[in-house]
Amino acid sequence: MEETLHEAWESNALEWTRAVRENVIPSRNRVTNAAILEAIKRCRGECVLDLGCGEGWLCRELLRLGWKTWGVDSSPTLIKLAEENGPGRYHCGSYLELDTLFQANSFDLVVANFSLLGEQSAETALTKARALLKPEGVFLIQTLNPKTLNHTGWQTETWESLGTLRCSPSPWYSRTLQGWTELFDSCQWKMEEALWPRHPADPEPSSVIFRLSVS
Ligand SMILES: C[S@@+](CC[C@H](N)C(=O)[O-])C[C@H]1O[C@@H](n2cnc3c(N)ncnc32)[C@H](O)[C@@H]1O
Repeated sequence: MEETLHEAWESNALEWTRAVRENVIPSRNRVTNAAILEAIKRCRGECVLDLGCGEGWLCRELLRLGWKTWGVDSSPTLIKLAEENGPGRYHCGSYLELDTLFQANSFDLVVANFSLLGEQSAETALTKARALLKPEGVFLIQTLNPKTLNHTGWQTETWESLGTLRCSPSPWYSRTLQGWTELFDSCQWKMEEALWPRHPADPEPSSVIFRLSVS
């Protein structure tokens, strides 16, 4: 399933880039983009790694805020599109390769914005990111509101709720809140805080942002 996930993101790369750059996804424009930026503004440091950076919007925003940015993504097309659109540094690779792509102890912040989508690969990212962070570093993870998900397991995103988005179906591994906290415990992360970004007009939060530190 992890391989299908990589293939889906590579095959959806152009349409996903259009969606991000033309603001096609309402929850991102209304709530979650600003929420991850606000969470990052509360972090100190200069070097940030964007895990699963996609076409690079977050790196571009962080460059504007004065961070030195590195982005990594397994989709060659998304990395090419990111490189063409700004000066940040990007690497094409999977989370399995994090320890060969980057030096240990070199980041103040690692951020994963809707990009811990797999089962084993999310655990790999959490394990390998520990070594990349400086001792006081922070790992921020934004993901779908787990309180709206009632089971842990693979699902298929059909994109049907986003009528104008012509992406092909892609698998993702759904986790409940308990599923996430057990994963953090097993990878020896301490959850400092969980933020629940919500638009005032919405009954439920759109997402959760976990703020982790090395325990
Ligand atoms: C929903 S997109 C989010 C992209 C970006 N973070 C954003 O906010 O627009 C998920 C991204 O995670 C990447 N990704 C998922 N699993 C990965 C893995 N194991 N290794 C590297 N990249 C991965 C995908 O290629 C895709 O670009």
